[in-house]
Amino acid sequence: MYSFTLGTVLTTLIAAAATTVSAQDACNGYKELCSVPYHEISTILTHNSYGFASNPAANQACSVSTQLDDGVRGLKFSAVLPSNVSVSDPANDIHLCHTSCTILDAGPAKDTLSEVGNWLKNNPNDVVTIMWNTPNNKAFQPSDFKAMYEAAGLLDIVYTQPVGNYTWPTLQEMISSGKRLVTFTDLGGDQSQVPWLLSEFNYVFETPYDNSNENSFKCTIDRPSDPSNPEAMMYVMNHFLYGSLNLGGTAIEIPQKGKANITNADSLLQQAQECQSAFGRRPTFLEVDFYNYGNTLQIAAQLNNVTYNNATTLKCNLQSSTTAGGGNSQSGGDSLIFSSSMYSSLVLVSLGSALLWAM
Ligand SMILES: *[C@@H]1O[C@H](CO)[C@@H](O)[C@H](O)[C@H]1NC(C)=O
Ligand SMILES: *[C@@H]1O[C@H](CO)[C@@H](O)[C@H](O)[C@H]1NC(C)=O
Ligand SMILES: *[C@@H]1O[C@H](CO)[C@@H](O)[C@H](O)[C@H]1NC(C)=O
Ligand SMILES: *[C@@H]1O[C@H](CO)[C@@H](O)[C@H](O)[C@H]1NC(C)=O
Ligand SMILES: *[C@@H]1O[C@H](CO)[C@@H](O)[C@H](O)[C@H]1NC(C)=O
Repeated sequence: MYSFTLGTVLTTLIAAAATTVSAQDACNGYKELCSVPYHEISTILTHNSYGFASNPAANQACSVSTQLDDGVRGLKFSAVLPSNVSVSDPANDIHLCHTSCTILDAGPAKDTLSEVGNWLKNNPNDVVTIMWNTPNNKAFQPSDFKAMYEAAGLLDIVYTQPVGNYTWPTLQEMISSGKRLVTFTDLGGDQSQVPWLLSEFNYVFETPYDNSNENSFKCTIDRPSDPSNPEAMMYVMNHFLYGSLNLGGTAIEIPQKGKANITNADSLLQQAQECQSAFGRRPTFLEVDFYNYGNTLQIAAQLNNVTYNNATTLKCNLQSSTTAGGGNSQSGGDSLIFSSSMYSSLVLVSLGSALLWAM
């Protein structure tokens, strides 16, 4: 599926270098977006962005830096405590895990946060959004998030939007102010304690996430159940599929990589158009698995009315081409094999709650 001659690779690298130079007067890669308010821009948000090790629970194929290099500007992270760990040193204790750290553990969250920080330093004209979810309804303290961000050196670039203000600055205004990292959390936010830790559901609602077939994507408000201002809020359009894997007679939900090239093509654009009709505005965040399949970034560009440069192959696909089967061996502490202990955890999780797994 991915085969490249050396010539193609060199041409691509030269093209990428040229893009970097011309991107200096652009905002999030496009000059036209500089004057557009943050809340009016459609952005690709990767589901479980940290989960890219070779693992059936992985929702992505490449590292967070590669995702950002390719044009992703929204990252969904899950804050999880490994079993039997209590928070005494949040910067090290809180990990990025897929529901349970036995299933997929991408290491202390601060390490991936540092990676995002380094990327932002090297890309001064970009605004990035991190959305936290907190599986198992574990509400961390605002101070826990602050400790992670402090350890990752991010406190000087975090952006604060006042509660109740649905009109955001333009990308250029955010870039000029140096506050280019937006953070939302589904639980544990309290802006009176940590002003930049925005409670997601004060600003954003989400469409349903537990989708198992191509026809199940709906443009309805799923979370929060009682949004404060659905007319003005931004929204996450969830557009990823779960399939079923039969393990010892128990069906568990796993990401559908094999269908991602279809899920992330016309189907994605169609749902965006349906949601645009339903809500009277384009989706702010298009949440996807395996963003490197299909046309995710082209579709976001189309929604933003800018021209996507599709002459450049995604870095993620160049990297995948060098490893057999498109699997990626980069790891932030993840197991590269799906061990039997992981199987039993999966079964336990599925017996406990199939819904949690989908988070
Ligand atoms: C926590 O540790 C106790 C004692 O070792 C053990 O019985 C229990 O199963 C552990 N819980 C989890 C969730 O791992
Ligand atoms: C809301 O935020 C925007 C962008 O920072 C600002 O221009 C506007 O004045 C704010 N509105 C209110 C009512 O504070
Ligand atoms: C999607 O990928 C599958 C398997 O990799 C392949 O058989 C199929 O032709 C692809 N479909 C499209 C529309 O690219
Ligand atoms: C899209 O961009 C083109 C060219 O800049 C412009 O003429 C057109 O009005 C824009 N359309 C919308 C809907 O913004
Ligand atoms: C790039 O986009 C153009 C216009 O949408 C399309 O015709 C062309 O096939 C695309 N090329 C690739 C390599 O995807």
